[in-house]
Amino acid sequence: MNQTEQTKQRKILVTSALPYANGSIHLGHMLEHIQTDIWVRFQKLRGEQCIYVCADDAHGTAIMLKAEQLGITPEQLIAKVQEEHQRDFAGFEISYDNYYSTHSEENRELSALIYERNKARGNIVARQITQLFDPEKKLFLSDRFVKGTCPKCDADDQYGDNCEKCGATYGAEELINPRSTISGATPILKENTQLFFDLPKFQDFLAQWTQSGSLQEGIANKLKEWLDSGLQQWDISREAPYFGFEIPGETGKYFYVWLDAPIGYMASFKNLCDRRDDLDFDDYWGKDSDAELYHFIGKDIINFHGLFWPAMLTGADFRTPTAIYSHGFVTVNGNKMSKSRGTFIKAETYLNHLSPEYLRYYFAAKLSGRIDDIDLNLEDFTQRVNSDLVNKVVNIASRTANFVKKLGGKLAEGNANPALTDEFQQAAAAIANHYEQREYGRAMRDIMALADKANQYIDEKAPWALMKEEGKEKEVLDCCSVGVNLFRLLALYLKPVLPGLAAKAEEFLNIAPLQWSDHLTLLQGHEINKFKAMMQRIEAKQIEAMTEEAKAEAEAEAKAAKPKSILDDDPIAEQINFDDFAKIDMRIAKIVTASHVEGADKLIQLTLDLGGETRNVFAGIKSAYKPEDLVGRFTVMVANLAPRKMKFGVSEGMVMAAGPGGQDIFLLSPDSGAVPGMRVK
Ligand code: 2FM
Ligand code: ZN
Repeated sequence: MNQTEQTKQRKILVTSALPYANGSIHLGHMLEHIQTDIWVRFQKLRGEQCIYVCADDAHGTAIMLKAEQLGITPEQLIAKVQEEHQRDFAGFEISYDNYYSTHSEENRELSALIYERNKARGNIVARQITQLFDPEKKLFLSDRFVKGTCPKCDADDQYGDNCEKCGATYGAEELINPRSTISGATPILKENTQLFFDLPKFQDFLAQWTQSGSLQEGIANKLKEWLDSGLQQWDISREAPYFGFEIPGETGKYFYVWLDAPIGYMASFKNLCDRRDDLDFDDYWGKDSDAELYHFIGKDIINFHGLFWPAMLTGADFRTPTAIYSHGFVTVNGNKMSKSRGTFIKAETYLNHLSPEYLRYYFAAKLSGRIDDIDLNLEDFTQRVNSDLVNKVVNIASRTANFVKKLGGKLAEGNANPALTDEFQQAAAAIANHYEQREYGRAMRDIMALADKANQYIDEKAPWALMKEEGKEKEVLDCCSVGVNLFRLLALYLKPVLPGLAAKAEEFLNIAPLQWSDHLTLLQGHEINKFKAMMQRIEAKQIEAMTEEAKAEAEAEAKAAKPKSILDDDPIAEQINFDDFAKIDMRIAKIVTASHVEGADKLIQLTLDLGGETRNVFAGIKSAYKPEDLVGRFTVMVANLAPRKMKFGVSEGMVMAAGPGGQDIFLLSPDSGAVPGMRVK
């Protein structure tokens, strides 16, 4: 038994950050969920009780507005999005024990409990603050829903919290010419009472907790800077209308989405406990729990997980996380994911073209326990997957399996290369240690170095040449049996990363699902199945097709997001020249009489004063106007239209109106000062 192997089963609860329920899963999300999933699969493979929960983060203004824009309820929106999220994660072989929603009864109860307990201890305070308010939409605007000119550098179109041009941070009320991004209205300042979580009370606790080894070094240092510069009270309430949980004891006030989001980790676990006899909620979340709790997150949300979350938990008598594991961002071909370049790739789009295992392997090969960004270079990706997985690992099986089959289908009884198999078996400890430390890149390097050695051994033995020689069958079987055994060990070591490949290997090897401890044994005198292709090479055209699809999606999205113009339905008519235009004589007219036309559905009869001359006009505006409302009104008429004989009489011109019809007919009116007969130019 080596040092990383333990006798007592660990109890481990693991989470990935909860994706917002208003957008698609993309490769940025996938980095985190793949990173977490590899760690979880590794722990399970080792026989630990490891539980992996996640959920959709379903609350907040953005989700409320998106539902409104789509003309559906927020509940309908989050249900639809959750289905897509779960489909995409399943497509990437992410093995949650539970995938739930923050919009759940469990979460409502736990959020209320954590709030009430903190409140009872005086950790919640009410304060009057002045906030920006959208007078049209009638809602308070969070920083992200206000844009304006930066008060520091005058850059236009900056958000209410910080300037992307000069980096300044400020309050939304400091913006010059602020406007609501929801309605376009100019926000007003409005006084309001809000509830705050009294974070400064937790200064000492957090100073100690953040330095206790629960955080990666860079993250602990960042948090130390924030702690040193003093903590602020945290606004945890939002005014109606808001999609979330109403705060107990308050009316029209809701928990801010970031309050109940991390509680969603607990709620998802609670929901699972209710279905599983072997799991007990308090055993994992109680103050004295001996279970381990890990949150995998992106480095951008460290303040929520490294400050607010442990403080809230402590304030409510729950345990705090054992550690928070942050990772960097995904870049594609060295740049931020870009819609126009086709490198903003949704999970679904990727899966339309490529196997999930390629990306799982590539991310694993690049991941470490640090928070560096991870670049998905599409050329390197293709080359690496093909050379490591197809040419090295799978090749070991494909070049040995058939000889075993030809020679009876049973692996040799003995071991023809104990030195090499021993080296492979010994490697388990270091590889396990790398997985445990989230140094997947190192684990992959070790595994590929072993694969090289296996191939080298087979190259040297050259069973294909031996096979042609007389009486060398035993040597061929011995060599190929070693090869198959080495392949089995590699498939085991890669199993946390490549569960699909491992399943195919298990089928081919004719064995039960591999456990980590199986590295201690070898297959001898064991019958194997026929080898079938386990993995295809990536072709450049697949990558091209994927980026083309991503580009097309981005274009379609941009088009759909553009405000719809009336001109889309009613395009501008054919061009005319100035002389054509000059022929139309438009005049200001005063409506002196207006009456219904007996027997006509659409028409009103108007008598128009043109300043010295009157005209009789039949206008098709009955659906929008009552005759009595028109009398005395000024409008514009075409005065030189040839008289037209109609069923009800002669019409001597035409009044000008806009709109699609029905109640939406808008008669043109001049500004005051215009007099009947004036020419419109
Ligand atoms: O940043 C985000 O995408 C959030 N939805 C993550 C929430 S993580 C947890 F706290 F719920
Ligand atoms: Zn600025």
